[in-house]
Amino acid sequence: MSLIGILKSHKTKPMMKGVILAGGLGTRLYPLTKITNKHLLPVFDRPMIFYPIQTLAGAGILDLLIVTGGNNAADFQRLLGNGKSFGLRRLTFAYQRGEGGIADALRLAEKFAAGENIAVMLGDNLVEKNIRSALTGFRHGARIFLKAVANPRDYGVPQLKSRKIIRIIEKPKRPPSRYAVIGLYLYDNQVFDIIRTLKPSARGELEITDVNNAYLQRGELQHRIISGWWADAGASPRHLLAAGQRVARQ
Ligand code: G1P
Repeated sequence: MSLIGILKSHKTKPMMKGVILAGGLGTRLYPLTKITNKHLLPVFDRPMIFYPIQTLAGAGILDLLIVTGGNNAADFQRLLGNGKSFGLRRLTFAYQRGEGGIADALRLAEKFAAGENIAVMLGDNLVEKNIRSALTGFRHGARIFLKAVANPRDYGVPQLKSRKIIRIIEKPKRPPSRYAVIGLYLYDNQVFDIIRTLKPSARGELEITDVNNAYLQRGELQHRIISGWWADAGASPRHLLAAGQRVARQ
């Protein structure tokens, strides 16, 4: 293909599909989440779910699946419609029954992915910068993104040895590094086979950290440090407030 052809195909062809996980009970934000889904709560001037949608759409990912659950699935549809106001080409919804965890929710994306690579974002994660460059060159395996944080024990934390990840521990009591694995993941189609091999963790959920460790064992896990600020708005009321303040300041 000529250079112009390559440039054109990059412009017109979506690089990969996107999946936003927006289920869960949101118990850490109770009673804010007693009658609504966490991802519909306001973060400064917008519902939380707008941020990951804008992040993926801003990176050219215009074919999106949103996985919801609980009693508010219809509210997402009312709020987001067909996604055209975000510039999306297609917006699809899936419904997660029960509380199986992040990796269990991701299982529902298998048909949607249809063999293509996916960018998965947690519906309560906000990133400051455009992530287009974070996606470049991704073809095979998995890619995760790290951010140095003050409170790593709230997150998945990588143990590093000469800049290589040797394992990831979910919410460790004694964090082996100061990095959090943020809620943005790139996966190839092996992810669905990996999810089928997972066993529920001590908290009864299929953990995304176990998915990433499975890629690591296959020697197919890449990582990047993400630039700009990152916020997990759903981790506690204080995180929700801090995320809103971040957005308001920018
Ligand atoms: C999840 C993941 C964790 C990750 C975090 C990022 O945790 O399990 O590995 O670091 O998202 O937001 P949760 O906040 O859902 O407990």
